[in-house]
Amino acid sequence: MESNNQSKHEEQLFPTYKRWNITFKSASGSTITDQSGKTYIDLMAGISVVNLGHGHPAVLKAVEQQLHEGWHASNFFHYEGQQQTAELLTAHSCGDLVFFANSGAEANEGAIKLARKHTGRKKIISFLQSFHGRTFGSMAATGQDSIHKGFGPMLEGFEYVPYNDVKALENAVDEETAAVIVEPVQGEGGVIPGEHTFLQAVEEAAKKAGALLICDEIQTGLGRTGAFFAHEHSGLNPDIITAAKALGNGIPTGAVIGKAHLKEAFGPGSHGTTFGGNPLAMAAAQATLRTLIEEDWSSKAADKGEALLKELKEKLSSLNKVKDIRGKGMMIGIELTEPAAETIIKLQEKGVLAIAAGPNVLRLLPPLTIEWETLMKGVHAIEETLKNK
Ligand SMILES: Cc1ncc(COP(=O)(O)O)c(C=O)c1O
Repeated sequence: MESNNQSKHEEQLFPTYKRWNITFKSASGSTITDQSGKTYIDLMAGISVVNLGHGHPAVLKAVEQQLHEGWHASNFFHYEGQQQTAELLTAHSCGDLVFFANSGAEANEGAIKLARKHTGRKKIISFLQSFHGRTFGSMAATGQDSIHKGFGPMLEGFEYVPYNDVKALENAVDEETAAVIVEPVQGEGGVIPGEHTFLQAVEEAAKKAGALLICDEIQTGLGRTGAFFAHEHSGLNPDIITAAKALGNGIPTGAVIGKAHLKEAFGPGSHGTTFGGNPLAMAAAQATLRTLIEEDWSSKAADKGEALLKELKEKLSSLNKVKDIRGKGMMIGIELTEPAAETIIKLQEKGVLAIAAGPNVLRLLPPLTIEWETLMKGVHAIEETLKNK
């Protein structure tokens, strides 16, 4: 199936992805339609990207308008959109200054550079099973051997400690540490929420050692977990927050959001990008942020997520194949006793899209805007699929 797909459509593409046997045609709201006309309920939102749903009218209007006004000039120019987007991000986070990038990996790359430059230290602590991206810095920060394999030598200075293990963390952070980078909920690693006491200990250990705390909010940020940024659940005050994915609701963009005291480390000529923060991306980001904030999608995601988790627990907990159901807001993992890949294909046959997180976890990241009735159709399909196996 997969090799047919590859040979039929993708002879000129590097086969970096194990693609499904679905060819995208169009998307609207909480559904995706394929080339054959089959429509799917989207419980993955392009991997936590279209938090406002596909083709959200406010984002569409802003991008359309910007297309008519010009979409690139370079960062030699003042771009009003960058300033306005940065105002929104800093007004709704503990950060003061923003650098715009094009993706999550690039945002983390910028954060790692900023931490090293500011502290003059080399060591970066991250966590086992973490995921921070595929570029050299973000890949080195990623605590998964399988992601590093074949690309060595890795960038020097990265150490990995077990997630949710306060003792191991405290032993690792010292006066040579530039930063600790942490996902408040590990996404790719299996939807593992960070315990409040652990996340607070991460902040405390970093601050005590004079190291920076970087919260990677690329998957968890912008309403996904029921807070604007997930670290807010634990009352953290990070030095740097990285965001991407949902920031442009599908138009590629990323951001490094840092404290004012880091300003000098990122002076003229220190870091840069051709595309980052271009007017098209900023039009999308501004419309996305305004909608998320003005319509309070964080609170709505908290309520909907809680109801969804309850529903899933009621329907699935007793099934043999289900080991655990966990998550935060609209970021939910259903841990199975077997690989999730087969369930994902069976769900597609029923017209429902979900993804895996690690080998055994079925991950749900629906658009925050999904209607309850549609969501419940998805839940029903999951129940039927797991029951009948
Ligand atoms: C927590 C986290 N950090 C970083 C990234 C990398 O983002 P991108 O794929 O936009 O480079 C991801 C992507 O899945 C992510 O989930």
